[in-house]
Amino acid sequence: MKPLGAVPWPPTPIVTERLTLRETRTEDRPALVELLSSETVQAYLGGPQHTREQLEELIPADPNTRPGIFAVEREGEFIGRITVQRREKAWAHHVRDEGDEVEIGCEFLPTAWGAGLASEAVRAVLGWIDATLPGEPVVLTTQVANERSLRLARRLGFVEVERFTAYGAEQWFGHLEGRP
Ligand SMILES: CC(C)(COP(=O)(O)OP(=O)(O)OC[C@H]1O[C@@H](n2cnc3c(N)ncnc32)[C@H](O)[C@@H]1OP(=O)(O)O)[C@@H](O)C(=O)NCCC(=O)NCCS
Repeated sequence: MKPLGAVPWPPTPIVTERLTLRETRTEDRPALVELLSSETVQAYLGGPQHTREQLEELIPADPNTRPGIFAVEREGEFIGRITVQRREKAWAHHVRDEGDEVEIGCEFLPTAWGAGLASEAVRAVLGWIDATLPGEPVVLTTQVANERSLRLARRLGFVEVERFTAYGAEQWFGHLEGRP
């Protein structure tokens, strides 16, 4: 996946009813290790790619390495992250010929699931995209078996473009309606 490109970063923190969204910071490292090594969180994302020990080594001291990766904080605690990237032209499945659509992904710690927090955070990031990258198509890919993710996508207004098989699983590719 391609980096987002030139956007103002770090962002002005976004404050919602229950959350603050901001760039990732050094103090997020332990929670990032937890998130990326969790079998539960990574179940539909290909499984954890690294062990906790490897992640301790791999995650930079300052994890704010590129624009578009939002840490989501609730009551001062990191509960998840939202990633905004570009969908490379070289990949299959696009909603415009030139590709490079804005693609959104989210990973939350299981303790934060089932409370509408991910939806609240993604909604806020969609507002940031509207303000920062106006008129860009926004897409999302998830495994069809990832029911929570699919429910979240539909709740936020993503509609199916197509389904395809990749990494041995059926994938759902959707976009936000009413965009180019
Ligand atoms: C995908 C993921 C972010 C969804 O998390 P989630 O907590 O289910 O999503 P939401 O924030 O939309 O929460 C919705 C649930 O909270 C419930 N809820 C409880 N209180 C709520 C409130 N105050 N407001 C809104 N919803 C509330 C809703 O009823 C809903 O439950 P349901 O899905 O059983 O119907 C999470 O499962 C995750 O991190 N998975 C691992 C990573 C992953 O697979 N990512 C997919 C790629 S995008």
